[in-house]
Amino acid sequence: MSTLRLLFLALISLPALAAEAPIPLDPATGMKIANDWELVRNHCVICHSSQTFLRQRATEANWTSVLEWMQKHGGLWKLDPEVEKKIIKYLAANYGPGPAGNYRRAPISATLMPPNPYATEARLEAEARQKQGIVQPPAGK
Ligand code: HEC
Repeated sequence: MSTLRLLFLALISLPALAAEAPIPLDPATGMKIANDWELVRNHCVICHSSQTFLRQRATEANWTSVLEWMQKHGGLWKLDPEVEKKIIKYLAANYGPGPAGNYRRAPISATLMPPNPYATEARLEAEARQKQGIVQPPAGK
């Protein structure tokens, strides 16, 4: 193989290598050893195993509500706002929703869903199908 060709192959495989470089895991907790992971460990494995949050995937907003729920119902103390921000950033960055391919199955097709009164397109489609007599209007209409 020519040097040029090798160089080309090396260059095109660089992004793939960068994307797949695995983040090392802490052997004790299984947590990804990324920015602020020790801060999260110190706060989050006192009452329960790390598995309670490692198996979850959530956005920053959802992680925030998990923490609020835990403060209300799980006995988690009030956190310093800076600490809380770092914990949520770590969780969302390392245990975020990820690509749709992570999910169990593809979303159900819009035509198989009940009419959604808030989604204009879906509502118009459903109303058109009701007019054509393909589907019945919802009960009480
Ligand atoms: C003071 C104790 C305490 C601390 C500290 C704590 N939790 Fe919890 N957590 C709980 C309790 C209690 C539950 C409910 C357990 C259950 O339902 O069995 C819970 C449940 C959870 C759940 C839900 C698990 C499920 O069943 O789906 C998640 C996620 C979670 N905690 C994440 C965290 C994170 C992240 C932190 C660190 C900021 C944290 N917890 C710190 C007490 C705590």
